[in-house]
Amino acid sequence: MTMHQPTVWIAPSILSADFAALGRDIAAVERGGADLIHIDVMDGHFVPNITIGPPVVRAIKRIATRPLDVHLMIEDPDRYIRDFADAGASMISVHVEVLPHLHRTIAFIKSLGVKAGAVINPSTSITTLEDVAKDLDFVLVMSVNPGFGGQAFIPHSLEKVRRLKGLLAATGSSAQIEIDGGVDPSTINDVVSAGATILVAGNAIFASGDAEAATRALRAAANAPPPPGIRA
Ligand code: DX5
Ligand code: ZN
Repeated sequence: MTMHQPTVWIAPSILSADFAALGRDIAAVERGGADLIHIDVMDGHFVPNITIGPPVVRAIKRIATRPLDVHLMIEDPDRYIRDFADAGASMISVHVEVLPHLHRTIAFIKSLGVKAGAVINPSTSITTLEDVAKDLDFVLVMSVNPGFGGQAFIPHSLEKVRRLKGLLAATGSSAQIEIDGGVDPSTINDVVSAGATILVAGNAIFASGDAEAATRALRAAANAPPPPGIRA
């Protein structure tokens, strides 16, 4: 008997790539089967780090063959969403912690023809999403505190993903669950079993020495059939 296994996407985070050789590193993860390219935008205010902006996203768009998944860790996302959409983002996610009018922001992202996601920090409750769940294309669960790559996975995130899956089902939402932070060969099976279907991985891919092979290995692990006795 073959069990139906949902397809899980791997989204390499270029935060841990070599910024002086982004084209080379993106080509490597694409050869390894990357489904998306995850781009971390940080403003030095919402998170204590500064990374990249629309001009770099536009440059990546010219060379990437996979959709760009842009994660905005910035204080005033409404001000910049159009710029990132124009630069070539296929998916844009915004943090609920900075948005008093999340419903309006999500509608704005979708009006630009871009998939819209809401992100919750480790200390943010999934209940903040209950009334907007049906409008979301995806929810991004942070499994580390945002700001830096290479941090350890927060174990509580697994239970959170399970509860979020229940909330999405209860509200009739078809949003996918994305998880971001500390995903590596030791945590990947647990996040997939919990219900995440888009997996971001930075350090596990780019610090491995072979980004192509690491992407391929993570993708294979994520889509492997569950062990006997575990329901898909
Ligand atoms: C953290 C970023 C992540 C980060 C993940 O603030 O949002 O996307 O790059 O990196 P790893 O996989 O190294 O935890
Ligand atoms: Zn991210």
